[in-house]
Amino acid sequence: MCGIIGYIGKKQALPILINGLRRLEYRGYDSAGVAVSDGKKFTKIKAVGKIEKLAEKLKPLDLNGSVGIAHTRWATHGGVTEANAHPHSACADDLVIAHNGIIENYRELKEKFLKGHELKSETDTEILAHLIEVFYKGNLTEAVRTALKEVRGTYGLAAMHSDEPDKLVAARFGSPLVIGVGDGEYFLASDTSPMLAHTKEVIFLDDGEIAEISLSGLKISSLDSKNITKYSETIDWDEASAQKQGYEHFMLKEIFDQPAVFKDAIRGRYNLTEGTAHLGGLNMTSEQMHSVSRVILLACGTASYAALVGKYALERLAGIPTEVDVGSEFRYRDPIIDRNTLVFGITQSGETADTLAALREAKRKGAFVRGIVNVIGSTLARETDGGTYMHAGPELAVASTKAYTNMVAVLILYAIQFGRLNRLTQATGERLIAALLEIPTKMKEVLAQSERIKTIAEKYKDSVGMLFLGRGINYPVALEGSHKLKEISYIHSEAYPAGEMKHGANALLGPHFPVVAIMTKNQLYEKMRSSVEEVRARKSPLILIATVGDESARELADDVIYVPPTMELLEPLLNTIPLQLFAYHTAVALGRDVDRPRNLAKSVTVE
Ligand code: AGP
Repeated sequence: MCGIIGYIGKKQALPILINGLRRLEYRGYDSAGVAVSDGKKFTKIKAVGKIEKLAEKLKPLDLNGSVGIAHTRWATHGGVTEANAHPHSACADDLVIAHNGIIENYRELKEKFLKGHELKSETDTEILAHLIEVFYKGNLTEAVRTALKEVRGTYGLAAMHSDEPDKLVAARFGSPLVIGVGDGEYFLASDTSPMLAHTKEVIFLDDGEIAEISLSGLKISSLDSKNITKYSETIDWDEASAQKQGYEHFMLKEIFDQPAVFKDAIRGRYNLTEGTAHLGGLNMTSEQMHSVSRVILLACGTASYAALVGKYALERLAGIPTEVDVGSEFRYRDPIIDRNTLVFGITQSGETADTLAALREAKRKGAFVRGIVNVIGSTLARETDGGTYMHAGPELAVASTKAYTNMVAVLILYAIQFGRLNRLTQATGERLIAALLEIPTKMKEVLAQSERIKTIAEKYKDSVGMLFLGRGINYPVALEGSHKLKEISYIHSEAYPAGEMKHGANALLGPHFPVVAIMTKNQLYEKMRSSVEEVRARKSPLILIATVGDESARELADDVIYVPPTMELLEPLLNTIPLQLFAYHTAVALGRDVDRPRNLAKSVTVE
């Protein structure tokens, strides 16, 4: 949540900072601010609303300077006001900081250190600025170090002081920060997306590290003043993949990215002739793999629905009992874990606080802990003992689409890999791999129906609520379809396993209440069809996701979206796409801010 960008070099800082904020806006977007140093003093400008509001405010000002920091906020402490926007100063205007995270003991710090200090905002960040001011004796790095030793909580911090105009100080604990190394210049940001236009050489700060960044070099040390040597890494995402490329929204572009990035997720990870998969990053000996008696998949939101698909696949192909738990529940319920439990954290960002905390708990209890992650070098990727990058490329829309698909792809590959160790036959493995290879072409067939799905979405856009139904492997698809619709269109929706309807949800049905049902041709087709007929009988408008060739679906439904046939376990890779498009077109028809839905941020780095 929230995004920080910093620059120090020879160029004008402002355009770099503002463009960087635009890239980070997906992390939070209720207010933003920038501070630029002209070598003597700072000019600090803030605005409530999106980055463009700040950019407009800055237009008439001639803000020169080649050092600066900026921040885009998603409020956690204090309302959405200009005073609460970052960067913050202390009593004097010679210090500015931008901060992500939460200072948990801010009340104690205020009591103990800040007598006589006048606070101008309601934020915990401002308390931190005052604390650094208290300890400042001519060396910003040391003042930050001393202040942070008093702090309990999480931070990704950027600080500048006008007495040391050629220096940026950064510190991290629990909230990511990356340093970009350019030619005679440095960048600092919450993730790599704002760096891509400038450099691909990056250094990821770890928890408890402080970086002093100046034109004469970069010094990294620990909170207790030990020097740390770190080397830069090269990131392989490019700038073009982080652009809209002619699509109206990032979400639509990312939906259409799916055939290509799906290929990236499976490339080099399967063996067709042996009917198996091989995910090298697992870092487990075959003995350890054989010892796995239980799998736990930890995730939040959309990632948890991808995990549910993974549960079906792991149980069916590998015969390993698999549980799915959302991070926010798992971390507090004293879970039972033993040394034969394999725990995967599944996360696009690799920064989701609840998933991270749950995984740390599993690690403490001695499980094998692995990650399925998209963002390279993210916290979860670095904290696990192995795992797999899902290779979805930068996902900037708050609503996750292509990362979901690639999570499912990686989980299915794991299920095949574990399956081939025990009960999965080579023949079935071969069929699965062959079917996986056909998925990109079939995804394109679904995507080609976008305009028709738009017409359907426009027809139902004024509904007050909707129900999504699925069974078996398509129940998680229904959950994901419902999740997508509510988060970007703000229409209330629920998802049910179709067999459960008779136990309560049937009471909702009627002409005012549309139902989206996934009724593709698989082993539960007849059962699903009976549930759909009940919906029909109760006169709810019916939108069906059906298999190409199932003409009888047209007689049942008001609207049918056809998807190509595939093996049952792979159906979520296709069946989710019409639901993503349905949610997208509904949100557009309602005039919603599709890429940045209200009250949500892309990366949820607070509890
Ligand atoms: C997805 O559309 C949501 N924005 C949200 O549920 C998301 O999947 C969740 O916050 C988990 O994020 P992660 O994959 O980065 O951990």
